[in-house]
Amino acid sequence: MSIDFGELTFSFTPTRTMFIARCELGDEWQPGELQPFQNLELSPAACVLNYGQGLFEGLKAYRADDGRILLFRPAMNAARLRAGCRRLSMPPVPEELFLSAVRDVVSENSDYIPPNNDGALYIRPLVFGSGAILGVAPAPEFAFLVYASPVGPYFKGGLSPIRLLVTRDFHRAAPKGTGGVKAIGNYAPGMLPSSHAKRKGYAEVVYLDAVEERYIEEVGAANFFAIFGDTLVTPALSGSILSGVTRDSVLQLAAERFGLKVEERDVSIDEALGADELFCSGTAAVISPIGCINYEGQDHQFSGGEVGPRTRALYEALTAIQHGDAPDEFGWVVEV
Ligand code: PLP
Ligand code: COI
Repeated sequence: MSIDFGELTFSFTPTRTMFIARCELGDEWQPGELQPFQNLELSPAACVLNYGQGLFEGLKAYRADDGRILLFRPAMNAARLRAGCRRLSMPPVPEELFLSAVRDVVSENSDYIPPNNDGALYIRPLVFGSGAILGVAPAPEFAFLVYASPVGPYFKGGLSPIRLLVTRDFHRAAPKGTGGVKAIGNYAPGMLPSSHAKRKGYAEVVYLDAVEERYIEEVGAANFFAIFGDTLVTPALSGSILSGVTRDSVLQLAAERFGLKVEERDVSIDEALGADELFCSGTAAVISPIGCINYEGQDHQFSGGEVGPRTRALYEALTAIQHGDAPDEFGWVVEV
């Protein structure tokens, strides 16, 4: 293996081992096993290929300076995956199966974890309808798989402000749809808006709500935050946005470490354009400052295009806990 950890981007590098477990419809999940990383064999009539019955998760393993391997709040990913399984008519993966599969994949591939501050091992759990079916109905068989890839930053340049484009041409999710779960089918429709934004020089799109086209939902695959003075505001979990693990952590850090007032509520684009600082959060995105937002053809700058002081403080506090550089009074990190 020869990986230049210092040069990592958010792209796929296979590792040695993956985990796979199976479950028949109406039955319990089998214990599953580690296997060499390999291609899958699937029927062309597999439910996931034809009807998109599938979910994914994303979490990271970090290597602390003292050599410990740390996961960040993996039980939250396990719970979100179970909620998604119920929404997509798949048997929920038990928490213990999820956590032991993640731990085993990380341990078996521990030499692929970049040194502290060079990146992380991104862990990708998947659940999908692997069995063949022609009518639109749950698959007769399901697979739960965990693979991993060493990664660097999601947005180029680490903690440097990104430029975003508010789209009124596309919505990500509708009320009562599947935006609140990590359904695989939520992501391909975002590729076209994202490529339009990139062509115009923006890193991603900001989606507005599908009813009034007025309230901010999310940034591609990250949650949105605005800071007004001592108040941190983020869109409420209405069902059409993802309940981010990072989002929840940022809200707790902001309130408990920094004494900010936190509000989960509707944030209109007009209100957001008057914010002191903006950022977005996610496992891949970490905390990414937003330096500019284009709305209706006009660029609006935030924090003078620099990283805002509160955004930087939240980034430093969060990553210090994740990387094992600071005490974790929340009990978030789990040693492998
Ligand atoms: N929103 C969407 C649509 C996502 O795909 C993600 C990524 O997982 C997030 C938000 C951020 O969630 P988390 O912080 O759990 O990674
Ligand atoms: C994550 O942050 O884990 C995500 O799922 C983002 C991804 C779609 C790249």
